[in-house]
Amino acid sequence: MNRRYFLHLSVISAGYLLAGCEDRGATDKKQSQKPPEIDSDLEKLSPQVEKLAEDFIPFSQKLKIPSEINFPQASKPVFTAQKSEVNIFEDAKTEVLTFQGDLPNPTIRISKGDTFDLNLVNKLADPTIIHWHGLIVPEEMDGHPKDAIETNQIKHYHYSVNQNAGTYWYHTHPHGRTGEEIYHGLSGLYIVDNKDEESLNLPKDEFEIPLIIQDRRFDNKRQLLYKDPNFLQDHNGVMGDVILVNSTPLPFHEVKTGKYRLRILNASSVRTYKLAFDTIEKFLLIGTDAGLLEEPIIVDSVVLSVAERVDIIVDFKDKQVGDRVILKTLGFKEGTNMKMNANYPSFDAIMDIMQFHITEEFQDISVIPNNLAIIPRIKESEAIQTRTITMEIMAGGVWTLDKKPYDMHRIDQKVKLGTTEIWEIKNTVHMAHPFHIHGVLFQVLDRSGKINFPTDKGWKDTVLVMPNETVRVIMNFTVPGLFLYHCHILEHEDHAMMANFLVEG
Ligand code: C2O
Ligand code: CU
Ligand code: CU
Repeated sequence: MNRRYFLHLSVISAGYLLAGCEDRGATDKKQSQKPPEIDSDLEKLSPQVEKLAEDFIPFSQKLKIPSEINFPQASKPVFTAQKSEVNIFEDAKTEVLTFQGDLPNPTIRISKGDTFDLNLVNKLADPTIIHWHGLIVPEEMDGHPKDAIETNQIKHYHYSVNQNAGTYWYHTHPHGRTGEEIYHGLSGLYIVDNKDEESLNLPKDEFEIPLIIQDRRFDNKRQLLYKDPNFLQDHNGVMGDVILVNSTPLPFHEVKTGKYRLRILNASSVRTYKLAFDTIEKFLLIGTDAGLLEEPIIVDSVVLSVAERVDIIVDFKDKQVGDRVILKTLGFKEGTNMKMNANYPSFDAIMDIMQFHITEEFQDISVIPNNLAIIPRIKESEAIQTRTITMEIMAGGVWTLDKKPYDMHRIDQKVKLGTTEIWEIKNTVHMAHPFHIHGVLFQVLDRSGKINFPTDKGWKDTVLVMPNETVRVIMNFTVPGLFLYHCHILEHEDHAMMANFLVEG
């Protein structure tokens, strides 16, 4: 595996896109069996690189779909954080970290009102803890790094789920090692269902597909490479050249000529995706981090920063059996002008993510309703105060909030239980940061920047704050205890861009 190959791939497919649809069908059918036509650039590669390029054919591995652990049927499942060897690539074993021995980790699936119950066993060399990202749970269930368990210890999670249906996720959250652990595999999806959503008849079963997107780096033995000690820029965020979807590199998935609901999570370290399809112009955004929008929004691309989720409907009805559709990132150049590791594709890199193979005709008579959910707006007048949180980079390149590097034992904000507040998140640097708050779901009031994010219209737990932008969010604090707020670029949160708030009863 080599990085230049993937870089070139994205360049090729970008060119391909621009070239329009000259005889797509014919070339595409051949393509699943061999790499795309080599353009003149690729001929400059060394023979060794070409050899490696021959070893991996994009869109040749089938998308893995995570297994599901369904509550309440599941009886006390066990997650054992452990080292495992798995086939990310069909032809090699990669050393990773898993919860049940394989990747992708299972999806947790539970209905509103049901009780979640699970044991975490730590078989890692270091302390760890699981956080249920977006779930509103008691403090001791939230997975704060102070609650990390030692090697061989067990943590029992038990709480009831009482919130919107939505696409949430889980990941470990140990102090200073969250990035490394998620990078090596310790995350998964957590889907909450409820009755209201069922009556909407959204695409389900084979027509509902979870997609966990992560960019990764591999060495030529197909082992994961995390931070490169020779590149200080990796402190700004580790970006990779190989995109995995559900732990499968540049996969393909077979679909019919109908509508699909894609629940997409960005579980990368730093990369923000601007998701679009190469030959489908418009799709519907129907949901955000914590549930459905009030009504579908027609979009041609959607920006997804780390930890954010989107729920979209894509319709393959105009495609023919044999067609191919690529999901890609258009590159999010607005995200930063900071120097990142130049050996890997930058923020504005156009990259392929996966390919859909249309394999069957299907008369899809389903209709996506115009009214999806009711989102009661929290009124600004209800807020008893406004707090400002400032994103800073300090001397020595340390990422912080309010110039205070994270201290696990310091309380940075105190909030009154049962009250509403506005938090004004102020970004003072030339890099966009996804801001996440534990223990609440919030609504975006406004942002000072120019880009319009349709995802701002839904319930959120993570919001992207653009360079030199201020975003205002509003929320109710309903659970007492100590919780975190932080930048969700994993290297930034590990690198001190995190703080504690205490909700007092
Ligand atoms: Cu995904 Cu502290 O969170
Ligand atoms: Cu969280
Ligand atoms: Cu950050």
